[in-house]
Amino acid sequence: MKYHIQTWGCQMNEHDGEKLSGLLSAEGFESVETAEEADLVLLNTCSIREKAVHKVYSELGRLRQEKERRPLLVGVTGCLAQQEQAALFKRAPHIDFVLGTMALKQLPRLVAEAREGKARVMDTGEYPDNHLFPPSVTQRQDTAKALVTITEGCNHACTYCIVPTTRGAERHRPCEDVLAEVRGLVARGYREVELLGQNVNSYAGGCTFADLLERVSEVDGLEWIRFTTSHPMNFTKELARVLVTNPKVVPFLHLPLQSGSDQVLKRMLREYTVAEYLERLGYLGEGRSRMTLSTDLIVGFPGETDDDFEATLRVLDEVAFDGSFSFIYSPRPGTPSLRLKDDLPMAEKSVRLARLQQRQLTLTRASNERFVGRTIPVRVETHGPTSHGWWLAHSGEWKTIHLAVEPGRVPPFGELVQARITLASPHFLGAELV
Ligand code: SAH
Ligand code: SF4
Ligand code: F3S
Repeated sequence: MKYHIQTWGCQMNEHDGEKLSGLLSAEGFESVETAEEADLVLLNTCSIREKAVHKVYSELGRLRQEKERRPLLVGVTGCLAQQEQAALFKRAPHIDFVLGTMALKQLPRLVAEAREGKARVMDTGEYPDNHLFPPSVTQRQDTAKALVTITEGCNHACTYCIVPTTRGAERHRPCEDVLAEVRGLVARGYREVELLGQNVNSYAGGCTFADLLERVSEVDGLEWIRFTTSHPMNFTKELARVLVTNPKVVPFLHLPLQSGSDQVLKRMLREYTVAEYLERLGYLGEGRSRMTLSTDLIVGFPGETDDDFEATLRVLDEVAFDGSFSFIYSPRPGTPSLRLKDDLPMAEKSVRLARLQQRQLTLTRASNERFVGRTIPVRVETHGPTSHGWWLAHSGEWKTIHLAVEPGRVPPFGELVQARITLASPHFLGAELV
């Protein structure tokens, strides 16, 4: 059996793809690069916004045609699988099996049943040990940093968000488990880990998230620790202190704001006001100046007025985020925000999004320009030059680096090298290998 996994969505889903890949490889299946070469295709889906779902259905359509020509097993995993469950078979009868996000280890059984000819095989159960996936099984992609799950699920209830439905309530991996996995990764040569959870800073696996960071940082040979993602209300003073003082924790924080208007935040059930969000950022103290900050914003949430939107632009400017991810509000099935009146025309929402993204571009450019002339450590992420001739790397601040390397020199994959920043574009920094 040859298999191909196509993953959409966040790092958590990417990492689930690595776990699913490990399970199939343990069965003796072989991983291939394209769906065309595969006997089994897994669509590891995301349903955060409608667009993400459209991509899945369009790929499913393509696979239906492929299936008419040759034998092929099609499985759907990830958040859309968990959300739609058996309804997926109605919508796309050529799907052979559906696997939920909390039943990963059931994959080999589902594949076996589907291979035996059983139709509409499904498991979307909530297995209490799903988050205790054995690290030895995970088959990691060839990346410079390793993804490590610390919590799954979300106990917040933002009114627009599908994630509490698709990922369930929070489950935390015991601290010792996380440490053992990180030690194993370092022994295999990884120098950087990214701790994952829908809300990492509510971590409660035997210690606080701030403690977990400190303990992970004690692993010899580990250089950098990142984490994603954080809810502002779980961002503590203790965590801010670790972020600012621990040299292994990278100087980067992604803290989703969603809106700069208190009225909108309230309808989103974000649990904070703008003032409280800013107060939390203030916990970073003077350490803030050495860090980069990014955020998520939703534009055109039901009832968002001109004033609400202007307030978001003001907070964007006030914080001067180094980067942000912004999207137009997308109504998700079963979420409480569906009941709110949403009468703002889509054209107006698009205008707002464009204005916000334009404003962010200016801020990001300014942020990037501050790096020009500096020499900073960056981690090499490619095995050779791209078609444009440079190597790719990232800095601790999560700046994308296009690294110019003299012929004959080979910067080591996954390791830190010194880069002199020569150029700032809105989307990357140009640099020379020192
Ligand atoms: N747990 C993370 C969010 C994960 S979803 C957190 O709270 O930060 C990533 C981002 O997608 C969210 O921060 C939000 O900005 C966006 N998002 C989620 N649901 C959305 C929706 N229905 N419409 C538009 N954007 C949405
Ligand atoms: Fe969704 Fe809110 Fe949970 Fe983030 S904190 S995953 S936005 S419900
Ligand atoms: Fe998407 Fe699910 Fe992640 S909805 S963003 S894949 S948690």
